[in-house]
Parts: sequence; structure tokens; C-alpha cells
Amino acid sequence: MYTNQSTVISLSKHQDVVNNNIENTKKDFGIFFTPERIVNFMIEMIDMKKISSRNDVFILEPACGLAQFLYGVKRIKPSLYNKSKLFGVEVNQDIQNYSKTLPFSKEYALYKEDYLLFETNIHFDIIIGNPPYGIPSMSKHYKIKTSSETKQLYKNIYKTWSGKYNVYGAFIEKSINLLNNNGQLIFIVPATFMILDDFKKLRNYLSNSGYTSLTYTGPDVFKPEADVSSVILYFRKSHKVNSLKLAEYKNNSIHTVYENSNWNGEVIRFVTEYTKKLDNRCSYKLGDIYNINISSRTPEIKDNIYIKKGKPLNINDYYPLLNGRNLKCNKINYDNLTGYWIKKENSNKLRGYYNKPHIVIGLGFREDGRLAAAYDRKCYPWMGDIYHLSKKNDLFFANFDISEIDLLAYLNSDYVKRYIKETYREITYHLSITQLKNLPVPSDKEWKIIKARGKM
Ligand SMILES: C[S@@+](CC[C@H](N)C(=O)[O-])C[C@H]1O[C@@H](n2cnc3c(N)ncnc32)[C@H](O)[C@@H]1O
Repeated sequence: MYTNQSTVISLSKHQDVVNNNIENTKKDFGIFFTPERIVNFMIEMIDMKKISSRNDVFILEPACGLAQFLYGVKRIKPSLYNKSKLFGVEVNQDIQNYSKTLPFSKEYALYKEDYLLFETNIHFDIIIGNPPYGIPSMSKHYKIKTSSETKQLYKNIYKTWSGKYNVYGAFIEKSINLLNNNGQLIFIVPATFMILDDFKKLRNYLSNSGYTSLTYTGPDVFKPEADVSSVILYFRKSHKVNSLKLAEYKNNSIHTVYENSNWNGEVIRFVTEYTKKLDNRCSYKLGDIYNINISSRTPEIKDNIYIKKGKPLNINDYYPLLNGRNLKCNKINYDNLTGYWIKKENSNKLRGYYNKPHIVIGLGFREDGRLAAAYDRKCYPWMGDIYHLSKKNDLFFANFDISEIDLLAYLNSDYVKRYIKETYREITYHLSITQLKNLPVPSDKEWKIIKARGKM
């Protein structure tokens, strides 16, 4: 059934069987098979020059499922396959059992283990695959079911672990550690590590450990099974380089978007003619001028002793809690849409910054990309992903003179909408505080020039 020719039968029919057998537990393990065209594309990324002098090439597919990357090496690069030793690691019992029924399983060593706890003395020349992604937890809100003991072990082992870390970040760290010098890591992963704060340590780790090249593949690769914007990470371990390249895969070809020969783990953004122009026309960043704080999150509200769920009898003594649905561009609906209330005298126990009139910003959603900003004159308490701006007392930015009315008009404008869309693409649904802080903002004069010029 398996032969050396590239026309051999693909694994897709076996993937369909496995998908049907494990439908209920699929998400708990982050099981999504990689489309074959992506497997082929990633295998073609292997830099053969770096391994040309080697007689034995060690290739590992972590989280291997049915080992379709290893099998792909055989299909596409027979000369590499002929001098390789193949290894896979898979934790899911059902997939292990099924893979054993396939003849190809005799051609690689399968470790039936959790990759994140897997120990080996072997170092690899190529690590390739599609690791699971998701936040590890037993909570029903999160994918990747993981006991708190195991999660604690992960936290102890992985130095890039941070905040609500996603397992794919730990898969990257582990794989870097298992590479030989000049070894190549090729993973398809969510693109969130490019921009989110929780991956700052991972970005630093990548930049300190070698050369990183990213090919953005966008939100369509795993649709309709998974709604995630992905990127192909090509990483080569080296003490000599810390460069970064960002490219995009579009219309069957690859366009380089950005290069940095001295990358130190900074956020990786898309830069376009438009974003460059707006950056040049604005002298400030929102985070220079304002402290930006986020509202209490829903779990905090639910656990808060001062919060009441349901309409109180003496309603005049209470404030409603507002959330994103109360906020539109330049407009706040002060009705209770959340069902949560707090006694007026207790509202300052939630967050200090609700007490003064200030600008609030709701998140731009991916489809639209628009921010919703408005002025909260009544200083009601908020919950959820709402950002609150309070002006810094900073002499250095004392000549930032745009009025708050004009600033609101700018924040709600198409200029900002386009900037966000072009800079962060489809990577996340929501903007993070870091992204908001980095938003360019104009002085009064600069805003007048931007408006007078109209289209950029
Ligand atoms: C996204 S799927 C990829 C499967 C296959 N490599 C492919 O690309 O089609 C991730 C695989 O990782 C396995 N997996 C999840 N957590 C794992 C872990 N901690 N260690 C090893 N394998 C794991 C899942 O069972 C699943 O087979």
C-alpha cells in the first residue's frame, strides 16, 4: 500500500475513520489532521543543504497522529527518507492503536507519551508537524483536557510558560531543545504567538536560539473544523543568527512582508504602505499618553461579594454593570444588559478607574476590525473586555493637544479600523492591551492634516 512514489495513497481515508471513531474526545486532545497540501508544502521547506553531509538524519514528528509528516517525507523526499531514522510521539491511545494497523507504522519508532513530558537523549535534525493547541485545563471552557498536576509539571519544566499559556508554545520550546545545532523545526501553529503578551518569553526564546522564518497562512487552513489563523514556523537552531523573516502565502505564491536581521523577540506585525504612513503621520502612541486598564472579567464578577445577579428591589441604590454590548462608537447605552448590579456605594470596590469620566474602548472584532470608543460620563462599572483610559501625568508628552472629542473621532474612524486590520490581520478576534498601547495617535495638528488629506 505504501510505496516510494509521490502518487501513493494518502492517509486521508484513515484520518476520516479516526475522526469518526473519536468524535467525542477529538477536541480534548486537539486532534486536527493537517491538509495534505500543507504537509507537502512544509516538507518542501526542509533545507536539504543543511543535512547533505549527514549519513543518518533523525526526523521527529511530535504529536504525530497517524504520522502523516513522516509518511510525507517518504512520499515526497525518498532520498531523504532513505537515509533517515523516523520517530513519532503520540499520547492518544485510540490513535496509537489505529496507527499500529497501518503498514507504515513499522517504519518509525512510536513513543506513546505526552510529548511535553517525554525524555530522550536523542537530538534531531528535523522536527516537523502540527502540535495541538489550546489552553490546558480540566475546565469545560478550555480545550486540551489536562489535570492540574500535569499542568503544574508543564509550568515547572517550560521557561517560556506565561499567563494562560497555550500548549503549542511549550511544544515549540521543547522542540528547540531537542534540535541539533543547525537542526530545523517546521511547525504549523496558531499565529497568536506573533503578537500576544503571553508569548513574549517564547518570542525571546526563538530569537535567542536561531533563525526564525514565518509564513502566514491565514484563517482558512483548518476551516470548517477549526477557526484559527495559522502560520508555518520554520526555525533553524544556531548561536550565530537571530534574524526574522515574515512572509505570506497568498494566491499560490509567497510574498516577503518583513525582515529583521537583529530580531530580539519583539511583537511581529504586518507592515504595509498604509500602516507606515499612519505611523509616520502620528507622533504618539496611545500607551504614551494614557494608562490603559481592563474591566473585571466575568469570573471575577461572578465571585465578587458586592455583585448582585438579577434586578434589585431598590434599583435606585444600584448601578448596572455594563459590558461590550452597551458600547457603540461614541455612544453608551446605560441600561442593564448583563443582569449584574452593584450597590452605588460599593462600585469603587470593583475598580478605582471607573470613578472619573473617561474614554472606554471596546474590542474590534475580527470581521469588522473596528474599535468602539465612547466617553463614559456617568462612570458606571463595567465588566468583560472593555478598556479604560486615564491620562498619564507625563511631562514628556505634555504637548499632546488633541481634544478628547477629536481623539474619540479618530479612534472610531476608518483610519484606525484599516490600521488594525492591516497590522494584525486575522490573528486574534480581540485587541490586547499591548496592541492598543501601540496604536498611533495624532496631535491636534496631525489629526487636521490626516482629515484634510482624506484617503491615505
Ligand atoms: C493537531 S493534531 C496533528 C496530527 C497529525 N500530526 C497531523 O498533522 O495531521 C495533534 C495530535 O497531537 C496529539 N497530542 C495532543 N496532545 C499531545 C501531547 N501532549 N503529546 C503527544 N501528542 C499529543 C493528538 O492526539 C493529535 O493526534
